[in-house]
Amino acid sequence: TYVVTDACVKCKYTDCVDVCPVDCFREGPNFLVIDPDECIDCTLCVAECPVEAIYAEDDVPGDMQQYIALNAEMSQVWPAIVEKKDPMSDHETWAAVSGKFDQIER
Ligand code: SF4
Ligand code: F3S
Repeated sequence: TYVVTDACVKCKYTDCVDVCPVDCFREGPNFLVIDPDECIDCTLCVAECPVEAIYAEDDVPGDMQQYIALNAEMSQVWPAIVEKKDPMSDHETWAAVSGKFDQIER
């Protein structure tokens, strides 16, 4: 499965959702996740993300391992998002910031 990680937090560019053939993105207030039970590993979303937030599960960097469980957990809670929309208003500021796990709104 593929996993959305830190760069997406407070940005939500949403280019990724337009290309997913199985509509497995789920949307929270300031972050998106991928439903690991639905992702078919097509890889299409990876290149779409302008901040390179999406990794194959096996390639998630060590300091972002907690995102694997978070994607699995929140994909069972948050609703589907299937169409691109405007990014969050302060995305330019937050795109350059890392270590945003604690700022994810549930
Ligand atoms: Fe969707 Fe493919 Fe990305 Fe999985 S890898 S989330 S199936 S676009
Ligand atoms: Fe997030 Fe990148 Fe998609 S910022 S919403 S994973 S395009």
